Amino acid sequence: MKPLVELHVHIEGTLEPEMVFDLATRNNIALPYASVDALRELMEFDDLPSFLDLYYECCAVLRTREDFRDLMLAYLRRAAAAGVAHAEIFFDPQTHTLRGVPVDDVIDGLLDGIAAARDDLEVTAGLILCFLRDRPVAEAAATLESAAHRAGDLLSVGLDSAEVGYPPHLFAEVFERARELGLRTVAHAGEEGPAAYVSEALDVLRAERIDHGIRSLEDPVLVERLRREQTPLTICPFSNVRLRAVADLAGHPLKRMLDAGLNVSIHSDDPAYFGGYIDDNHREIEAALGLSASDLDTLATNAINSAFITDERRNELL
Ligand code: ADE
Ligand code: ZN
Repeated sequence: MKPLVELHVHIEGTLEPEMVFDLATRNNIALPYASVDALRELMEFDDLPSFLDLYYECCAVLRTREDFRDLMLAYLRRAAAAGVAHAEIFFDPQTHTLRGVPVDDVIDGLLDGIAAARDDLEVTAGLILCFLRDRPVAEAAATLESAAHRAGDLLSVGLDSAEVGYPPHLFAEVFERARELGLRTVAHAGEEGPAAYVSEALDVLRAERIDHGIRSLEDPVLVERLRREQTPLTICPFSNVRLRAVADLAGHPLKRMLDAGLNVSIHSDDPAYFGGYIDDNHREIEAALGLSASDLDTLATNAINSAFITDERRNELL
């Protein structure tokens, strides 16, 4: 069995309700939830924006470098227990800098957590700085410049938050500048937005991986391109069900995508909100779709081959 490689997880989406309460106490923040259970009960979502409202609200407890370290270390402990050997982890700096947290505190804290895990857990990890596409483009550009001196500490940039109405081309110059800084590029597209956003992310942003991309199936020409170019698509089954992009796991398009020869792999998105981590996603989607041993091997191999790692590390994982 090959190890798991996590390519689509938002660190803020690993903030478990218990930690929301612990950090609120540590930072003297009054929460609008009566209890951990009351917070959990709010985790019923109609769509991506309704989820993001709660996700950003909970982020208010993250204030210090130590908070970000603790969040990262807790996530990597859980990931290691799931069998994850390598993780490429999104973070949303604007969510924190808009509240007055210095971007260096966010990055340093996350790197502290990664360093602690490398010693204890033998998990390797890297960071993907995401721009919030539903905020002004100028803010994304300023965020990138504010983190430019940390480019050596980052793997890639990404694009996330509410998708519909915020097409990828808006961020063309920001992604161009990220490439100048030596960063790789990924983008959420085709989660709730149309297949055309996937094409734009490829053509205009030159995204090397597409996060989600499930709506690509609505465009046969795009599907053929994704197959030919073997563009990695990071699929998050629990997320798609909980945000009602698909009705249930049995109706998830993953098997159709595999059968179409697309480069898909399974990931967790926001596991604290969607009912489980990468191992849970694998176990339940395998059962729901009746995936074969060969499908499972393909999924694991795709994740390893799609990671931004050295050939040496890739060969260790394969
Ligand atoms: N930010 C956190 N989770 C997200 C998702 N599933 N889609 C877009 N932005 C996100
Ligand atoms: Zn995501």
